[in-house]
Amino acid sequence: MQVALIGAGEFAKTHLEAYRRNPNVTVSWICDPNLEAARNYADRYGIANVTANYEHALLDPAVSFVDITAPNYLHKPMAVRAMEAGKDVLCEKPMALNVQECLDMKLASERTGRKLFVKYHQRFDPVHRRVKAMIESGQFPDPVMAMFTLFGNHIPSMSDPNHWRGNPALCGGGCLFSSGSHVLDLIHSFFGKLKAVTAVARQLVVNNPDKGDDNATVTMEFESGVVVNFIGCWTTDRWTWSKEIHNRHGSLRVEQDENKSNLLLLTKSSATELLMEQPDWFNQSNYAAIDHFVDCMNDAAEPLYSLDECIESMRLLELAYMSSEQGRRIIRNEINEAEGKAV
Ligand SMILES: NC(=O)c1ccc[n+]([C@@H]2O[C@H](COP(=O)([O-])OP(=O)(O)OC[C@H]3O[C@@H](n4cnc5c(N)ncnc54)[C@H](O)[C@@H]3O)[C@@H](O)[C@H]2O)c1
Repeated sequence: MQVALIGAGEFAKTHLEAYRRNPNVTVSWICDPNLEAARNYADRYGIANVTANYEHALLDPAVSFVDITAPNYLHKPMAVRAMEAGKDVLCEKPMALNVQECLDMKLASERTGRKLFVKYHQRFDPVHRRVKAMIESGQFPDPVMAMFTLFGNHIPSMSDPNHWRGNPALCGGGCLFSSGSHVLDLIHSFFGKLKAVTAVARQLVVNNPDKGDDNATVTMEFESGVVVNFIGCWTTDRWTWSKEIHNRHGSLRVEQDENKSNLLLLTKSSATELLMEQPDWFNQSNYAAIDHFVDCMNDAAEPLYSLDECIESMRLLELAYMSSEQGRRIIRNEINEAEGKAV
């Protein structure tokens, strides 16, 4: 299969590394108005065609699907345009800027009969998959309270008025929207039906009126009773992620070590057992996600999760921002009623 990669920025490298490892797919186009960036990747990865305008790649009948690694505000127009031109689409997370755009993309997929997949790579990490399986199978029964954190440093791009990151119109929001979208999607995939959300998303450090929140916290109550907290911070000195889930018998923790491995630890009666270790988890989960979606494009696999799940995790983000803006706890069902949907 041939793929056209749209967007030759920082994260394109991870996608190109994934395609380099996959014998079933060739990147035949790289598209970016920044032609120098596109040419650099083309030289490094042996990509035959470079263009500033992705419409050129859409005209190539040999291209089966496009992969969108452009800024978030371009996800919907690019995906819809590509599907209308007869191409299947793989789109980076977050799916788009808001729920309405996601619904428009789903409609375009139904209307054109083209496949549309959104890449939430954290769902592909074997440690995360084991956590989900342990919760769902009852091996780690009845979670009560959980805490997911993400600490990182996006101070330079948040302080830069010309960078799209953190600009609500171009990115959808700040720390909560961009990085939090991963974590809230994973939380949603672990714990199921949401009941209520309370959030605070604020710009605490960067002092840039063109940008959104640089720090955020969200408390999510699920129908099962579990309460999950998220803390996201873009204004510290290094990147770390952690996840811990507690039940009456102990706790399940996902931690990163200094070698970028994901460790899964189970603590019971004060004894801690290492259940599994995934080296280089961030890159490996990206490669696994792309391999999976290439198989889905080839009809060799069924998608691990549906577009409706991606839309629901976008809704969770929207509810969190609504809670922060209105200073109140938002009940999930209020939104169903407001949209006139069956609960
Ligand atoms: N899954 C993850 O962990 C992860 C990590 C980083 C980024 N991302 C996602 O990847 C996407 C890109 O992020 P990034 O960090 O690479 O951003 P970036 O700013 O480094 O790169 C974006 C690129 O898109 C290009 N672009 C802009 N307009 C274009 C157009 N009309 N046609 C083609 N290209 C265009 C820009 O010139 C730039 O080179 C975002 O949606 C982001 O959310 C995901």
